[in-house]
Amino acid sequence: MIGDVIARGGRKTLSKLLPTLKKDLSIDFVIAQGENSAGGFGHTLETTHEMIESGVDIITSGNHVWDKKDFIEELSKFSVPVLRPLNYPDITPGRGAIDIGPIAVINLIGRVFMGEYDSPFTAIDNLLSTGFGKGKPIFVDLHAETTSEKAAMGWYLDGKVTALVGTHTHVPTADCKILNKGTGFVSDLGMVGGIDSVIGIKTEDSLSRFLTGIPTRFTPVNEGKMMFCSVLIDVDEKTNYAKSIKRIDMETVI
Ligand SMILES: [Fe+2]
Ligand SMILES: [Fe+2]
Repeated sequence: MIGDVIARGGRKTLSKLLPTLKKDLSIDFVIAQGENSAGGFGHTLETTHEMIESGVDIITSGNHVWDKKDFIEELSKFSVPVLRPLNYPDITPGRGAIDIGPIAVINLIGRVFMGEYDSPFTAIDNLLSTGFGKGKPIFVDLHAETTSEKAAMGWYLDGKVTALVGTHTHVPTADCKILNKGTGFVSDLGMVGGIDSVIGIKTEDSLSRFLTGIPTRFTPVNEGKMMFCSVLIDVDEKTNYAKSIKRIDMETVI
């Protein structure tokens, strides 16, 4: 599971590193966060196809999923394997979960410092009570700001899913663990984006907003030193719980 892929630089980093990584580590399935893949804001059909070409199977999203208006149509047509958070009203375009081939994936969004969403706890309860993903490994991306909300969800889902990972902060956390009933957990995957940046955005753009309070245009860092942040989860095929969850973080220059 790979953290938020930021803009062209993130996509180039993905295409440079992921194919070799998949081969070297015999990775069966790749889930990546794509909400920042198109210029830092949202998804397009092109950025989605580029990520799939690099070896991604399922793309999750978050608060930036609606940024590119044309993409909403693709989400409603289910034309691409891109999820929007599950805890939206039923009439919202797109789908929040997918049961495909050997695995199932669920995308949630948190509420603390995030916005007016339905409860992600109730939403996933309702979905799992339908038998969704039964007998398969289930991977959950909770896109949320606070480590506490993500940790609480981890314990809430312990024993119910294979792994619960957090995204959104773009900062990798060093707390990979297997919870008591077998669910793999990490608070945040991190990002695939520029190292010399403020969470993927050019430092001068971000800094000027903090210094002056004037909303400025945010430009992503697309070249130079890049970080690739992910976790590798090994699944016990008998129980569908996580045998191990470990960070695979790399650096490269684009
Ligand atoms: Fe993000
Ligand atoms: Fe986000």
